Amino acid sequence: LGLKDRNTFGLDARAELAYEIDSAEQIPGVMSQIASKNLPWRILGGGSNVILPKVLPGATLLINITGQEITASENEDTLITVGAGVNWHEFVTWTLENNLPGLENLALIPGTVGAAPIQNIGAYGVEIANYIDHIEAFDVEKQAFVTLSNSECRFAYRDSYFKQNPHRFIVTKVVFRISKVWQAKIHYADLAKHFETNPKPSAEEIFLAVCKIRTHKLPDPKVIGNAGSFFQNPVIPNEQYETLLKKYAGLVSYPDAPGKRKLAAGWLIDQCGFKGQRMGEVGVYENQALVLVNHGNGTAQDILGLAKCIQDKVRKEFGVSLEIEPNIF
Ligand code: EPU
Repeated sequence: LGLKDRNTFGLDARAELAYEIDSAEQIPGVMSQIASKNLPWRILGGGSNVILPKVLPGATLLINITGQEITASENEDTLITVGAGVNWHEFVTWTLENNLPGLENLALIPGTVGAAPIQNIGAYGVEIANYIDHIEAFDVEKQAFVTLSNSECRFAYRDSYFKQNPHRFIVTKVVFRISKVWQAKIHYADLAKHFETNPKPSAEEIFLAVCKIRTHKLPDPKVIGNAGSFFQNPVIPNEQYETLLKKYAGLVSYPDAPGKRKLAAGWLIDQCGFKGQRMGEVGVYENQALVLVNHGNGTAQDILGLAKCIQDKVRKEFGVSLEIEPNIF
C-alpha cells in the first residue's frame, strides 16, 4: 500500500502489509496473526509526526476507528468519548459547534485523536493532558483491552507512557473531560499580542486566532510536506541558561521545572542561519526555523541529514543538544 498521501512529510513510502482497522474488535485477531507470522509492526495514525523509510517492513496498522459522543454530563464536567481515527482538528471544531469549549488553543494541529496523547500535543499554553479523563487501548503485552487513567498515562512535555512503551498499546478511544466552566487561556505570547485590544475573547475568537497564527507560521502539509516542529524545545539547567543569556541577550526561553529553563529551539536554529535554507530536496521553513520541509522528492535520509547538520551547528554554537520530535520508523 502506498503511503505518500498518508504522511504529512509527503515521503514516498510503501507498507509491505497494511491492515485497515475500522473497529477495536478487529485488533486481537490482527495482532495474533502478526504474532504468529513473527512480523514487525507499527501504527500509523494521521501520519503527521512520522518520518517513513521507502518500505515499511512487516505490518502497518491504519487506525480508522470513528465516532464521537457525549457519554456523561456531570455537575462540573462533560465527558466525550472519541474514536482514535477521528481527525483532531475536526474534533476540536465539533466541540466548539456543540458548545463544549476548552480545546480551542489546540486548533489546526494535524493528525488523529488517537495519536494526540502519545506525544501529548500542546500549543499556545495548552496541553491535551489536561483534558483527558482516560484512554481505552489494546495492550499487546497482556493481549487484552485496558483502560488507563490520566495519571497512568504519565503525561509530560511531548511525552507519555505510550511513547515510552512504543510497541505495547494500540489506542482505540480517548475520553475527554471538559469543564463546564470555561476560561480563556491567552497568556501565550502570540495570543496575548493578538488580543491586546480585546482582553475577553470568546472561545470562537481564540479558535480563529490560533488558526490564523498557525496558518501564518506553519506550512500547510497539503502544500509543502512537513511534520510540524521537528525538534523538541530543549530544557537546560538554570546555570547553563544564565551563562548563555550573558552571551546572547536575545535568547528566547520559558520557565520550566524548578532549576530548569526551556529554550525556543526555533530561535537557536534561526540564529545559526538555517531559516529558509535548502539542502537538495529538503529544507528549513522560511517562517519558522523549527519546521523542516520536504520540497517534493525528499527522503527520510535527506531529512535526517539536514537534521544532523542543524544539531551539530546548534551544539557547536550553544552547547545545547536538540532532540528529534517525530517518530523515525
Ligand atoms: N523563534 C525564532 N525564529 C524562528 C522560530 C521561533 O526566533 O524561526 C522564536 C520566536 O521568538 C518565537 C519563539 O521562538 O516567539 C517560539 O516560537 P513559536 O511561538 O513558534 O513556538 P515554538 O516553541 O517554536 C512550540 C511547539 C509548537 C506549537 C507552538 C505554539 C514544540 C516543539 N513546539 O513551538 O508545536 O504550535 O509552540 O504553542 O514545543 C509541534 O509540536 O509540531 C508544534 C507545531
